[in-house]
Amino acid sequence: MISKRTIEKVFETARVEEIIGDFVQLKKSGSNYKGLSPFTEERTPSFMVSPAKQIWKDFSSGKGGTVITFLMEHEQYTYPEAIKYIANKYNIEVEETERTQEQIIEDSEKESLFLISDFAKDYFKNKLFEEEGKTVALSYLKERQFKNEIIEKFEIGYSVNVKDDFSKAAIDAGYMINFLEKTGLTIVKESENIDRFKGRVIFPIRSMSGRILGFGGRILGASKSLAKYINSPESLIYQKSKVLYGIYESKQSIVKNDNCFLVEGYTDVIKMHQCGITNVVASSGTALTENQIRLINRLTKNITVVFDGDAAGSRAALRGIDLILEQGMNVKICNLPENDDPDSFVTNKNLKEVETYLFENSKDFIVYKAALLLGDSQNDPVKKAGVIRDMVESIAKINDQIKRELYIKECSSIMDISEQVLYSTLAQIIKKDFNNQKKVPAKEFEPISLVKTEKHKEHVDELYELERKIIEILILYGNDEIDFKEEVFTKNDDGVTDTKIKNRTTKVFEKIYMDLHTDEMEFSNEDFKNIYYRIIESFNENKEINVDKFINDLSDKQQLEVTNIVMDNEKYFLHDWEKNNIYPKSKKDTLAQLTIETILNFRCYLIDKKVNRYIDNSSSDEINNSSLEEVVNYSKLKKLLSEKLNRVL
Ligand code: CTP
Ligand code: MN
Repeated sequence: MISKRTIEKVFETARVEEIIGDFVQLKKSGSNYKGLSPFTEERTPSFMVSPAKQIWKDFSSGKGGTVITFLMEHEQYTYPEAIKYIANKYNIEVEETERTQEQIIEDSEKESLFLISDFAKDYFKNKLFEEEGKTVALSYLKERQFKNEIIEKFEIGYSVNVKDDFSKAAIDAGYMINFLEKTGLTIVKESENIDRFKGRVIFPIRSMSGRILGFGGRILGASKSLAKYINSPESLIYQKSKVLYGIYESKQSIVKNDNCFLVEGYTDVIKMHQCGITNVVASSGTALTENQIRLINRLTKNITVVFDGDAAGSRAALRGIDLILEQGMNVKICNLPENDDPDSFVTNKNLKEVETYLFENSKDFIVYKAALLLGDSQNDPVKKAGVIRDMVESIAKINDQIKRELYIKECSSIMDISEQVLYSTLAQIIKKDFNNQKKVPAKEFEPISLVKTEKHKEHVDELYELERKIIEILILYGNDEIDFKEEVFTKNDDGVTDTKIKNRTTKVFEKIYMDLHTDEMEFSNEDFKNIYYRIIESFNENKEINVDKFINDLSDKQQLEVTNIVMDNEKYFLHDWEKNNIYPKSKKDTLAQLTIETILNFRCYLIDKKVNRYIDNSSSDEINNSSLEEVVNYSKLKKLLSEKLNRVL
């Protein structure tokens, strides 16, 4: 784990505009910066960075947050990776804590394997352009129409056909043989070192963040005695079920296009990139695993599986798809023409042609599967029943009820069978799955209702809106001063109570804090409650509310709430022409009114809730005098407040 001290140092040092500036071209705009969204294709800037608040917001995709969130969204880093990235940029030393002896050994071993892999990648890369590499390997790649640019981008290399050319070079460079063996780059046989990949074209395989994990090696041309491809063996850094070839090179494009093409081979990924389709990954010939799907799931919910012409129609290929559905993703299938794989298909075609084909031939999996399975069983009732069951089994994997319903409709029309029958089949399958699942500890299982639900009613959560409004006022105007009138009760000499109206001036923050505190009003939304306490802390420490001082202590969801509040207010500065007309209402009296009104509304709401709770309970419990009295009091108070509110309005 990274130490708290390091994390604090990182937060102190990092400037959101500097970090983002490395990825997005930013232009000063008022007190903010603006630029083109890195998450969508757009022509007018809707991406905004606030140096004062140390947050960013992308109005076209709705994403936003802190510098850490940016790196996690844009580079797909994990939290520690993002911290390390910033530390590295600002030369901050990363302290690690709480590592056991074994972890330290494992980490340093991992690090050694990474270093060797990186060395190997460079070594092979250079060899491709020297002597043997140039004459046999580069020429082979050229024959297959790989351009230099793409060879460079994927850092394709060559391991010369000499027993230990690479191993020797690595040992001479100071790498230890036992680590070389662990990466699988060297095979040690009775004190002989043999290069695993000798005589092969090398495809380095990267992690999501770009580190070299392992390699794929292809023989030149065809051979009967040698395997066409070999891959790195499993190691501390390479687990084939967890890697996807091309994920590093494709990740940003996958996010932008909100779709990921899934192909089978190394050359398929590379050639599609060369053609201009850059959101592609390969499972490298094996069946897709859950871990691989999870990698894609971090980037998009949509997968388009591109099947080789000859693989089309294989039931085995369809099986992997249920796995994708189970993770709540949407799947389309695209069949290539017979005898084509993506590599051969895109060669000699331009981007437009390929895009058009992919677009026109990508079918929703349900339609695809139905057509495929139905085939000639249309007139065979027994076979047809089997197909229907098979389809409904796939549909049962989908967790989203609305989506499931749409598929049932679709299936019903394709199969020419009533929805009712499909629903009852679905019910059987789900019941069976449920009984099987019972043995497993209940983790994410959602009880499934088979009754068709009405579409969710668009209902506004009043309490949520009120609490959000209070937070908004605090964040945007908390440091401003307001004047308001206060009733002060005094007793005169005769013991009669006098009310006097006094004018007072305080900061908005103090007014809200005092009112909530006096009436013991609490936020019901945990996120707002937490944000509220951070704001108070920030105020107590700095005598000011500074978003950049507390935002890093919030959860992701809370950060997004705060970012939305701040940036929605700044949105109008994105386009200069809008600036003149619209300006936030910050005049002192409007602000006072807004503050007082919001708190009164909040108070009224809470009173209503208490009264309602009493009414709900009274039917079952016997009527209790003291609670009745409470209700009467609340009603009085409510009336008073409503009057006040009317006066304010
Ligand atoms: N593969 C493998 N071992 C093999 C054959 C294939 O690991 N002996 C994996 C490779 O990752 C390969 C993928 O399966 O990229 C798809 O195999 P295939 O379609 O046979 O190869 P292509 O990708 O078409 O490779 P090429 O175009 O170079 O022949
Ligand atoms: Mn091929």
